[in-house]
Amino acid sequence: MNLGWIDPNLLRDFRAEGTDAHRLCTIEDGWVERFGRDVLISFKRVLTRERLLAELQSWATSVGFEFGRIFARFVPRKSEEREPPRLIFGDPGGNLQTIATERHLKFGIDFGTGYSPGLFLDQRENRRYVRHIAPRRLLNCFAYTCSFSVGAACNGATTLNIDLSKKSLARGRENFALNCLPTIEHRFIADDVSEVLPRLARKGEKFDVIILDPPTFSRSSGGKTFQVEHDFENLLIHALELAERDSHILLSTNCSVLREHALEVMARYCLKASRRAATFDRPSAQPDFPPRTGASSIWLTLR
Ligand SMILES: C[S@@+](CC[C@H](N)C(=O)[O-])C[C@H]1O[C@@H](n2cnc3c(N)ncnc32)[C@H](O)[C@@H]1O
Repeated sequence: MNLGWIDPNLLRDFRAEGTDAHRLCTIEDGWVERFGRDVLISFKRVLTRERLLAELQSWATSVGFEFGRIFARFVPRKSEEREPPRLIFGDPGGNLQTIATERHLKFGIDFGTGYSPGLFLDQRENRRYVRHIAPRRLLNCFAYTCSFSVGAACNGATTLNIDLSKKSLARGRENFALNCLPTIEHRFIADDVSEVLPRLARKGEKFDVIILDPPTFSRSSGGKTFQVEHDFENLLIHALELAERDSHILLSTNCSVLREHALEVMARYCLKASRRAATFDRPSAQPDFPPRTGASSIWLTLR
């Protein structure tokens, strides 16, 4: 797909598969996403916001796409400068939440709590793959709102979700409830992944799918930092101790210098250091994301 608005046939395909959370448009300095009936414009320049807003109105009319509100957020260079989206069209009196659907699963969206509204659309194909694998025990590191776990749980998995943010894990529990999934078989640990993984290894815990989708940079409340370029290697070495034979590990990042090739090189080094062997797969491209936009991901299948 080239830059620009998605093909109307793709809109029809998403509707047919029960998905109303996807990108609508990607240009150089911004993009437009849909979450249920709401639309979010992300822009790096004010002129880009104005252009996307004008184009959205005319594109929506031409393809018969109906939407409710429009939110917009500035994409700063530094993640510390990120702010929640602002409502720029629609009823200012309503709450800032909605529900989005992906392959018939529901996810709570909140435009008021932070920069990200609750579902990363560039992980759709990886979520589909997890559902396809149908794990028995899923370890979801950096779980955020637990979207990977909801997909696995609906196919019978038990899950362990780790995130520094208690609020994100609480939203994760709400996502389970939205899909009528009891959380009794699921654990939610609000702690630093790098502290929890060695503890799990000491207890002899094992998993058949492990999700490693860390942020580019983070700082825990104790001041400890995580920097993906430096710390991914260590993270994978710890995760390998928890991986069953024939298990699958997702390595994913938005860091622009860690593309798929760099992830593979790093993974080969860690496998050798851990005396493990694996095959490598790349997820299918998402038709609403032009090449080299969205997260870079590889899947390891251990032998
Ligand atoms: C990129 S998001 C993960 C997105 C998630 N994989 C998904 O697809 O929904 C990063 C998450 O990592 C959490 N986080 C950052 N540093 C962490 C750490 N050291 N330990 C645990 N969680 C951390 C953040 O609170 C945030 O929810």
